[in-house]
Amino acid sequence: MAAPTKKNMETGQAFDSNAMTLTRFVLQEQRKFKHATGDLSQLLNCIQTAIKAIASAVRKAGIAKLHGIAGDINVQGEEVKKLDVLSNELFINMLKSSYTTALLVSEENENVIEVELERQGKYVVCFDPLDGSSNIDCLVSIGSIFAIYRRQTEGEPTIQDALQPGNKIVAAGYALYGSATAIVLSLGAGVNGFTYDPAIGEFILTDPNMRVPEKGKIYSINEGYASDWDAGVFGYIAAKKDPSKGKPYGARYVGSMVADVHRTIKYGGIFIYPATKSAPNGKLRLMYECNPMAFLMTQAGGLASDGRIDILDIVPQKIHERSPIFLGSKQDVEEALSYVQAAQK
Ligand code: AHM
Ligand code: MG
Repeated sequence: MAAPTKKNMETGQAFDSNAMTLTRFVLQEQRKFKHATGDLSQLLNCIQTAIKAIASAVRKAGIAKLHGIAGDINVQGEEVKKLDVLSNELFINMLKSSYTTALLVSEENENVIEVELERQGKYVVCFDPLDGSSNIDCLVSIGSIFAIYRRQTEGEPTIQDALQPGNKIVAAGYALYGSATAIVLSLGAGVNGFTYDPAIGEFILTDPNMRVPEKGKIYSINEGYASDWDAGVFGYIAAKKDPSKGKPYGARYVGSMVADVHRTIKYGGIFIYPATKSAPNGKLRLMYECNPMAFLMTQAGGLASDGRIDILDIVPQKIHERSPIFLGSKQDVEEALSYVQAAQK
């Protein structure tokens, strides 16, 4: 990116006339593959449009009463949709009209969504259009998460095209609607972060080649459920608070996976949503929450496990299945797993 020049310092503003936008970045990456058709770039552009529209709706939610019950009538007498319903429709409409997808899996839809034949392409997209539902109404950060796969069969798409392990992901990312809007993306060759510049309506590369620190100082888990944890998780968190075992870690838990994972990539540490007695598979969904985040964390040099195996090696049996997750800095995840595995013996 261009350094500020004397001229624009004098005028009081630095204007980058050669900014690396997300669209430009994706096109540049595409050029590295001789046989690329441009389909993935088109698909990512459509996701970007959905994210821009969701970001705009999120920012307006308070004044526009977008947080109302689906089907509510606003003061202008127009029907307003809940943010999560609107976000889901945006993802589905943009993905279908990209002409690059065959099958979609959304957190909001019980069954897979098959794209009409005339609009079908070779990709499968699994997504959570608006994650962090409990944080919507109090204006705390929320996000969107997605994973893109190449379909495995020809002809009519089947559920098998969707039930692929995370190690088959072609690209994954998330959008964070936080104090700024950011997109973090991996096309399988590292992780890059882009921040939205509302002045030009573009995402600008602000965090090139993101790497999670080898070890952090923060643990992130819902401690309210501590009585429900197994001995391994309990022992690990107790150790992180025990001054006789090293400098105690700080605790941070937003309750929006995108925000908690974004902080973990930036600052290091560990995010855990474990199995509990009442939820033996944890809460988070494998295909559109755990897998894309595990892919990003792994690409950033970290680890992601379900307590036994790498998240990315799990072969899903059902589109909405859940998985416990331990993800973050390599050394922190390894340490947590040593407690979990010792307790299982
Ligand atoms: P949601 O899909 O209903 O929004 O739930 C997923 C969210 C994650 O963003 C977050 O990590 C988790 O639920 C928090 O759950 P809890 O409130 O049980 O700690
Ligand atoms: Mg969710």
